[in-house]
Amino acid sequence: MSHSAAPVRPDPAGDRHIFHSALRRQYPVISHGEGCYLYDTDGKRYLDACGGAMVVNIGHGIPEIAQVMQEQVGRVAFAHRGQFSNAPLQRLAALVAEMAPAGLDLFFPVCGGSEAVETAIKLAHKYHRDRGRPEKRRVIARWQSYHGNTLGALSASGFSMRRAQYASLLIDFPHIAPMYCYRCPFGTAYPACGLACANDLERIIRQEGAHTLSAFIAEPLVAAAGGAPVPPRDYFARIREICDRYDVLFISDEIVTGFGRTGRTFAIQHWDTVPDLIVVAKGMSSGYAPLAGVIVKRAIAETIRDASGLFPHGYTYGGNPVGAAVGVCVLEYLRKHQLIERAAEMGVYLHERLATLRVHPSVGDVRGLGLLAGIEFVRDRATKAPFDPVTGYGLAVVQEATRRGLLVYPGTGSVDGVAGDHVLLAPPFIITREQIDTAVGLLDETLIATEQRYLA
Ligand SMILES: Cc1ncc(COP(=O)(O)O)c(C=O)c1O
Repeated sequence: MSHSAAPVRPDPAGDRHIFHSALRRQYPVISHGEGCYLYDTDGKRYLDACGGAMVVNIGHGIPEIAQVMQEQVGRVAFAHRGQFSNAPLQRLAALVAEMAPAGLDLFFPVCGGSEAVETAIKLAHKYHRDRGRPEKRRVIARWQSYHGNTLGALSASGFSMRRAQYASLLIDFPHIAPMYCYRCPFGTAYPACGLACANDLERIIRQEGAHTLSAFIAEPLVAAAGGAPVPPRDYFARIREICDRYDVLFISDEIVTGFGRTGRTFAIQHWDTVPDLIVVAKGMSSGYAPLAGVIVKRAIAETIRDASGLFPHGYTYGGNPVGAAVGVCVLEYLRKHQLIERAAEMGVYLHERLATLRVHPSVGDVRGLGLLAGIEFVRDRATKAPFDPVTGYGLAVVQEATRRGLLVYPGTGSVDGVAGDHVLLAPPFIITREQIDTAVGLLDETLIATEQRYLA
């Protein structure tokens, strides 16, 4: 499908009735997307090196998906989940069960990552409740993490800047130390640390009381709130052990990492650990439809089936046939084109090339796995001192890159919730070596220009 026709000029006042989060900002208007590129209505081309927000795993503008959506809308676009099941959803759940770790073969469909996290929070509580432990309701999470913007998901998120304005609305979920070897919160280093950051889970469980705690939630690689730090080899095995010891479920938040982003189907598989629940979204539909869900260990669902028989929860659009049909098409596309294997292979090349950016004085760390990479910026490499957050260094990098036609995703607060700038790269899995070279070249120019302004 080609959209190379002359761009449509946008109405300069066209956003007048849109309530954007940044109320004073002017946005370019998107025209179309193709492969790894997006085009705005002024005809400017952007290399989408972050899949929007780590969403677009298979690339933009794939005709098969458009066709499947059109066919499904023509057949039936909506049938309520309280009245009907549907064939695309049956196929999607079966595919997810095939791809998920053994034992996790049930799929609860919703429409967005935050909805998936809310569902997991309620499901964990409901499981304990049906086992006669109704006090187990609170979820433990980590500082410098992000699990979504709805109130339950934000309560779990250890992302100070997103919590700050709404703190009074949040639930009292406890948080433990982040896994962050570049700036170890315990002032030590792996392996001498003895996994102090994982052991912090046991400390908080004992302090808060296991009888009040339902689950622990973590992103295998923290994305927006952490810039993709990679946990040590035995980190998640220790987490699993502690969760089991205290009857606390382990929720792997794979909303960014799920379905191949890190070169394995689920990132937690890098640590040979099996969670109880996996929350997925983003890459599952690659952005073609709002689609997300919770992948559930069968034993958990069976406990509820044999007790109350009911999980009273759900959203109107959860499991709708159009979203499900898109999900099936995306997952089949991943398999047909062996894109997860490709993410692993291209990931090695991406990290090799990104390592060359370490020559820049503001690059403190380059990290990640597969096609998820983070670059953390520092004002002083020797002391690892971050930029003063009011200067907005990370955002300046993103703006410079965007001006050059390169999209990377900004992140802040990785140091202590407030200071710390990084950018994330999460390109479509179809990215070529040449496009990776172009992205790294543009980042190189971007850093030279930004450092001239900030470090001179
Ligand atoms: C790890 C993680 N969890 C949850 C969410 C929330 O997903 P959504 O924005 O679809 O509600 C996000 C979104 O960026 C995320 O990165």
